Amino acid sequence: MRIEKPEVLATLVAIALGLLTSGGYWLGTAILSIEFNYVLALALLIGVTSLTFIFVRFVIQQFIYAKVKLIYKNIHELKLGSDEEEDLIARTSDLRMVEREVSEWAEERNTEIRELKEREAFRREFIGNVSHELKTPIFNIQGYILTLLDGALDDPKINKKYLNRANRSVDRMIALVQDMDVLNKLESGVMDVRKQQFDVLKTIRDVFEMLEDKAEEKSIKLKLKKDYDRPMKVEGDPHRIEQVLANLVVNAVKYGKEKGYVEVGIFDMDDKFLIEVADNGMGIPETDIPRIFERFYRVDKSRSRDVGGSGLGLAIVKHIVDAHKQTINVRSTSGVGSTFSFTLKKAK
Ligand SMILES: Nc1ncnc2c1ncn2[C@@H]1O[C@H](COP(=O)(O)OP(=O)(O)OP(=O)(O)O)[C@@H](O)[C@H]1O
Ligand SMILES: [Mg+2]
Repeated sequence: MRIEKPEVLATLVAIALGLLTSGGYWLGTAILSIEFNYVLALALLIGVTSLTFIFVRFVIQQFIYAKVKLIYKNIHELKLGSDEEEDLIARTSDLRMVEREVSEWAEERNTEIRELKEREAFRREFIGNVSHELKTPIFNIQGYILTLLDGALDDPKINKKYLNRANRSVDRMIALVQDMDVLNKLESGVMDVRKQQFDVLKTIRDVFEMLEDKAEEKSIKLKLKKDYDRPMKVEGDPHRIEQVLANLVVNAVKYGKEKGYVEVGIFDMDDKFLIEVADNGMGIPETDIPRIFERFYRVDKSRSRDVGGSGLGLAIVKHIVDAHKQTINVRSTSGVGSTFSFTLKKAK
């Protein structure tokens, strides 16, 4: 017997209770009327009540059982057949693949946006730096010209002085434009490294000769660490390596102290030479060291401008060394001096 509706159940229970109670009452009264004893009447009453209880319990049990069965049935129906299951697995893996593709695509777009933002920030910073660097010599030249037009041109004592100053500013602009051109070509890969075998010792001596006068102005001595008595053959672009050495020695002189020295050493390291350019100048604060190879980075902008720097020299140096697949390092202590060292491959 299965009873599914609570109203039906309630009616049935009520009828059963009614029947049994009235049956029990009728039976008890009948028994008492035929002068049965009280104990038997009580026993009959308990018996009928127990039967009523068992019946009600049975009906409720049936009701609960029917409900639980219904729940089981629903759960069972939720389970899928093997075909449906396979179909669902296939659809789920398709969805997962699409999800993965979409997130990969989103990641790529994010990277592109990040790179574009970085490039845009770099472009803005670069233009800002260039215009800033050009502004100083341009305004200087304008100032000299205006002074000359104001009458200084007719004064033989000062007209030459102003023209010389204007010429120095033009030199500075030319150097800046040339440096930017070199950097641009190195970065875009237009300027390739033409490797050949050459004697780096001779290049060092040439650089010393070229910068002798500049060093002399500050009574700085340019010297080699040792009396090298044989050629030091390396593999690389001689013109570019000369540029590296010239930039490092110019810096050592520019940021060196009066009556100081610049010392270049060559160290044998298996298949490489390590070239060191050391000075006993003002040195570089520790916090600035990681940034000095960045374009336009200068430790002390005003100090650097006095000696005509725009912060491109070391960026060029780094690019050239990188293009040779070699490394460059710097050790420096503020107020004590700096040592720049880079490697070069030995010629075979
Ligand atoms: N030997 C050195 N001693 C002390 N400071 C140095 C030395 N070499 C470089 N620096 C610091 O590093 C900065 C960057 O050098 P970098 O050669 O790139 O630029 P610059 O000399 O200022 O200008 P540029 O070389 O373009 O004319 C310099 O401004 C200077 O502050
Ligand atoms: Mg420099």
